Amino acid sequence: MLFRSLLSLSCIGLLVTALPDKSHLVTRQPNDCREISIPITVEVPRFLISTEINDDWDAAALTFNLTRRDFGQATFPLPITGTTAGPVRSTYSVGGTFCGNGSTTLILTHGILESKLYWQPDFPGSERYDFVKAAVKAGYSVLSYDRIGVGSSSRIDPLTDAQFQVQVAVLNALVEHVRNNAASPLPAHKVVLLGHSYGAYLSAAAAASNQSRNSVDAVLLTGFAGGFSHFGPFLAGAGLRVARDRRPRRWGALDPGYLTTADRYADAYRRVAAWTHERGSEPFAAGELPSLLATSITYRDITAPVQIVQGRYDVSACGGNCAGQLDEIRGNLTGARVVETVEDLPAGHNLNLHLIAPKAFGLMFDFLGRQGL
Ligand SMILES: *[C@@H]1O[C@H](CO)[C@@H](O)[C@H](O)[C@H]1NC(C)=O
Ligand SMILES: *[C@@H]1O[C@H](CO)[C@@H](O)[C@H](O)[C@H]1NC(C)=O
Ligand SMILES: *[C@@H]1O[C@H](CO)[C@@H](O)[C@H](O)[C@H]1NC(C)=O
Ligand SMILES: *[C@@H]1O[C@H](CO)[C@@H](O)[C@H](O)[C@H]1NC(C)=O
Repeated sequence: MLFRSLLSLSCIGLLVTALPDKSHLVTRQPNDCREISIPITVEVPRFLISTEINDDWDAAALTFNLTRRDFGQATFPLPITGTTAGPVRSTYSVGGTFCGNGSTTLILTHGILESKLYWQPDFPGSERYDFVKAAVKAGYSVLSYDRIGVGSSSRIDPLTDAQFQVQVAVLNALVEHVRNNAASPLPAHKVVLLGHSYGAYLSAAAAASNQSRNSVDAVLLTGFAGGFSHFGPFLAGAGLRVARDRRPRRWGALDPGYLTTADRYADAYRRVAAWTHERGSEPFAAGELPSLLATSITYRDITAPVQIVQGRYDVSACGGNCAGQLDEIRGNLTGARVVETVEDLPAGHNLNLHLIAPKAFGLMFDFLGRQGL
């Protein structure tokens, strides 16, 4: 963490405490970032998930189950026995990085097996992969946050809290926070959701929800083609292991229900493998996938303009070749004012960690510009 703090300090420039008087904000430097912690209370029903993970044998068994041909079908149902009788109320602390002073704020939701560091990698020479820096330079404000259970956000129960609809509720609360909270660094006039991978499903679900539908001005999705049919090779290739046993010093306090990849080679298909494995990687909780698969996202309820930007060779989204794979989700986004898709960038799943990243960022900013954002 110290390394990261030092590194980010070196690119912060002048750090100014946010003051309610807006005139002070113009004295900020374009890359002015601040770490923030946002308390969020959610009240949503929970799935009752029957998986139990105690050791690597269980992690291997879970992988076997999740990749079984008929997983989630009648012959081999999801490991979900029901839902709680009513909503469950929980308060979490969400750790975020807020940068920039634009009046449009992009809320960034990272994928599974990573943290908000995905948007701001910190290896030497990582500048071209730094989405946050590019967005601030393009005039936007950016809130990147750690999903609950990850990094600087609250540690949560991997089965009862770490569920898709809980994460959606957190994102809805962040949208509300950014738009309306006078204490937020800069009250935003416009909000854009940008999600990668698991974060793309979350962003789409939030944009489709009654709570956020009218508060979201555009949606950008990467590492995403709408469906779930290519999760098998991704999960099998990840070689899931119990995180606390892999790296006791870093993750020793985690419940065994938090999983990580077997080794850096298991991260290779996501790119910049060594950094991804040693530094960027964060465990994910066993409840996240079954709850995603048990939720149907009503894509037609998204009214904001949507852009999907894909690396062509993405395994988990497209089975390793995105050509033609975005047509279905495109067809399902019937309520969106504008839908644009890019399916052929020379990249795999973690788009931002490929040499093409600056071009991908430019495509997104260009799209937002054409939406008046
Ligand atoms: C953001 O800061 C730059 C200087 O760093 C300033 O030129 C610009 O007007 C500011 N924009 C807003 C929206 O405050
Ligand atoms: C895998 O599925 C079997 C049922 O076929 C179940 O008994 C077992 O608990 C599951 N394992 C995990 C780790 O979810
Ligand atoms: C969203 O709002 C619509 C119309 O007000 C309502 O019919 C629907 O039940 C709401 N959905 C949820 C999940 O609350
Ligand atoms: C698109 O809609 C069809 C029909 O409702 C559905 O079967 C399919 O799963 C949807 N696809 C995606 C990617 O959401």
